[in-house]
Amino acid sequence: MKGVLLAGGTGSRLYPITYTGPKQLVPIANKPVLDYAIEDLREAGITEIGVVLGNKGRDAIQEHLGDGSAYDVEITYIVQGDPLGLAHAVGCARDFVGDDSFVVYLGDDLMRDGITDMVANFDSSEYSAGIGLQEVDEPSRYGIVEVNDSGDIVSLVEKPDDPPSNLALIGIYVFTPAIFEQIESLTPSWRGELEITDAIQGLLETGSRVQSHLVHGWWKDTGKPEDVLQANRLVLDNMDGQIEGDIQDGASVSGRVELQKNAVIEGGAVVRGPVSIGEGTRVCSDSYIGPYTSIGEQSIVDNVHIEASVTMGHNEIKTDSKIVDSLVGREACVKSSDSKPEGERITVGRNSTLEL
Ligand code: TTP
Repeated sequence: MKGVLLAGGTGSRLYPITYTGPKQLVPIANKPVLDYAIEDLREAGITEIGVVLGNKGRDAIQEHLGDGSAYDVEITYIVQGDPLGLAHAVGCARDFVGDDSFVVYLGDDLMRDGITDMVANFDSSEYSAGIGLQEVDEPSRYGIVEVNDSGDIVSLVEKPDDPPSNLALIGIYVFTPAIFEQIESLTPSWRGELEITDAIQGLLETGSRVQSHLVHGWWKDTGKPEDVLQANRLVLDNMDGQIEGDIQDGASVSGRVELQKNAVIEGGAVVRGPVSIGEGTRVCSDSYIGPYTSIGEQSIVDNVHIEASVTMGHNEIKTDSKIVDSLVGREACVKSSDSKPEGERITVGRNSTLEL
């Protein structure tokens, strides 16, 4: 079995963070979200991985993943270019896939329990495709499937008024090459994209069997800023913590804390886990880092109260304000001014959100 990891797309819901880089490299607990997918694929025994690239961040993703040897996998890059839809992205991987079955993993998704069960349960002699599903509370907001008694999917319906079940598609699929024929006959949907659900519908209509696979552990996509914060919370909740950096005398550190190499927590600082602090970052005295926070690498956190937030690295955060539920982009600087004019002085880029 091979893996096809979709790392194209626009990432427009994550502007302004994604003006300068692809969303698949946004760090969750100080690790790019794409790395979690590669690890899940490898854990399921899949080492031949095709990474589908869009226009945005193509070089950055290739530079980050290289040939895959650092992950013990073999990576082939496939260029999709414009984001013409998930089915189009999958179709681009046809030569790479050849005659094998393959998993499609969305590069901005995280799954607590990985994909090992789904891959092990898929039987390509019986089924043309397998779909990861999760039970949801409000099925009319999702793509929903109807399943028969033997666990086969019999129909798919997008945001149904009268849902046939509460089983929603979560964006993880196993396919045989039979899917490519369906993709070739697709026409763009109302939103101008080739939809993977239409391709699966095509399989069903031509008599192919499609297997359902219920995913029990949490699943999260990181499409919007609040999703990044939630994903960070979920990952930190499962983290063991590890101290590689230096905790100076007089610092108060409790709970599960990951302190990466060359990071320092100075005396007087308070860190309450679960927290991840990236390589080379200095947490100065008088700072408080509260639960569910990831501070990126090579940053300075000085005299700050910050909690339930993600800072993406190379930041200077030096303010007496309390920062909560916040996402701070790479190289951004948040600081107090000694010589304030009346009111706050701000420099805010396009698509930023600032709640004062
Ligand atoms: P989406 O989040 O559905 O799309 P997007 O990345 O364009 O985001 P936004 O809606 O905020 O503009 O994509 C899910 C995953 O699939 C993501 O990792 C990007 C990838 N993808 C492709 O590789 N090619 C595509 O054509 C599309 C639409 C998505």
